[in-house]
Amino acid sequence: MSARTALPLVTAVTALAILTTGCTSTKTAGSGASGGSEVTLVAEGKLKTCTHLPYEPFQFRKGSEVVGFDVDIVDLVAKDLKVTQEIVDTPFEGIQTGEDLNAGKCDLAAAGMTITPVREQNLDFSGPYFDATQALIAKKGSPYTSLASLKGKKLGVQQGTTGETYAKKNGAGTETVQFEDVALLLAAVKTGQVDAAVNDNGVLFEYVRKNPDLAVTAEFDTGEKYGIGVRTGNTALRKEIDKVVKAARADGRYDALYKKWFPAAPKK
Ligand code: ARG
Repeated sequence: MSARTALPLVTAVTALAILTTGCTSTKTAGSGASGGSEVTLVAEGKLKTCTHLPYEPFQFRKGSEVVGFDVDIVDLVAKDLKVTQEIVDTPFEGIQTGEDLNAGKCDLAAAGMTITPVREQNLDFSGPYFDATQALIAKKGSPYTSLASLKGKKLGVQQGTTGETYAKKNGAGTETVQFEDVALLLAAVKTGQVDAAVNDNGVLFEYVRKNPDLAVTAEFDTGEKYGIGVRTGNTALRKEIDKVVKAARADGRYDALYKKWFPAAPKK
């Protein structure tokens, strides 16, 4: 190989090495016997979580704190790694495309995020930690109980989500209106700016519990599973998450968190 072709190759390899290791890094060994592989974190002493607020009850602000089911699950991982979780609130688009993880903005993404084949090409997922399905929310007593009933009507969707994909694919004849976050989406249903909205069942049931003027009028059997995202190839962290979630499921901590955040849901 001539020197002229070797140089770009070296540059490419260096660039790849920078990309795959991230900029700053600290190594942390999990407490349990995880097979000896070390977890590398983007900032010392911290487990940085990318998420998109609000997504109650998975992650939302309560006073000055960010709390929720996902926050508590990731706290278990942080505790096992003997570091503190730090939340990075960022648009869902950068999370689900793997962009934020690749840029070293955070170590993991926990955002009530559904595992999909497209996303799996751009980031790696932990094993499933929560089951979800798409659902429809509308004013109580409204006739909108299916996508078919919304022909010629306005249907709100959250940008970049599986709900948006579902609504566009199955809502022929309805006008979808895109919202950046779920707070704006649900406010639009409440004020009548849209006739109904599609989003994940857990989030919608929590909203109607607090807003009895609205109702969940349909659930669509999309069979979704949430996963925690890590940068493609970050196997040590992915395995660490799986190890912690598995232990929490076995010793009752997972069930306790489920009861804490989903008081109305039937026991899983
Ligand atoms: N589960 C849906 C999806 O993966 C919605 C997630 C939205 N999450 C959020 N934190 N805003 O597309």
